[in-house]
Amino acid sequence: MIARTGTCPGAAALVFGTLLAAPAMAQFAKPEDAIKYRQSAFTVMGNHMGRLAAMAKGERPYDAAAAQSSARIIDTIAKLPWEAFVPGSDQGKTGAKPELFANLADVRSLAERLNGETGKLTEAAGNLDAMRKQVGATGAACKACHEKYRNM
Ligand code: HEC
Repeated sequence: MIARTGTCPGAAALVFGTLLAAPAMAQFAKPEDAIKYRQSAFTVMGNHMGRLAAMAKGERPYDAAAAQSSARIIDTIAKLPWEAFVPGSDQGKTGAKPELFANLADVRSLAERLNGETGKLTEAAGNLDAMRKQVGATGAACKACHEKYRNM
C-alpha cells in the first residue's frame, strides 16, 4: 500500500470514508440484487419458522433433531437480510415500507432483538415445551418489525 494519507487530512478522510461505505454496496451490483437477496433470506427463515410452528401446534409430530436443525438455520439466516437494505432498494418489487429506509437505526435494533431470540432457539428446540415458548418469542420479534416496516 502506497497511500500517503498522512500528508493530507482531506485525502485521509476520503480514503476512510470510502472504506466505510464500500462493503455494504459492493455486495450488490444493483438494488434489485439486494432486494432479491433479503427476500430470499426471509423466505428461507419463514419456511423454517413454519416447520417449528407446525410442531409447536401439534400439526406435525415433534422431532427434536429436525427442530434443532431448523432452529440453527433460522439463527444463521436471521443475520443476513439487514445489510441488504441499501440505498435505492426502496424502489421496485419490495414489500419494505419507505419509512424503513429513514429509520435504519430502529430497524437495526429490531434485527438485534430478533437475533437475541433466535440465539436461544436451538437449545430450546431440544424440548417441546421450551420450543413452544421460544418460537412464540421469536415470532413476536418478527411481527414487531413487520407491523412497522413491511407492507402486508
Ligand atoms: C427488522 C425487521 C424485520 C424482522 C425482525 C423480520 N422481518 Fe420479515 N421482512 C421484513 C421486511 C422489511 C420485509 C420486506 C422485504 C422486501 O420485500 O424487500 C420482510 C419480508 C418477509 C417475508 C417475505 C419475503 C418475500 O419473498 O417477499 C417473509 C416470509 C418474512 N419476512 C419472514 C420473517 C420471519 C419468519 C421473521 C422472524 C424469524 C422476520 N421476517 C423478521 C422485515 C423484518
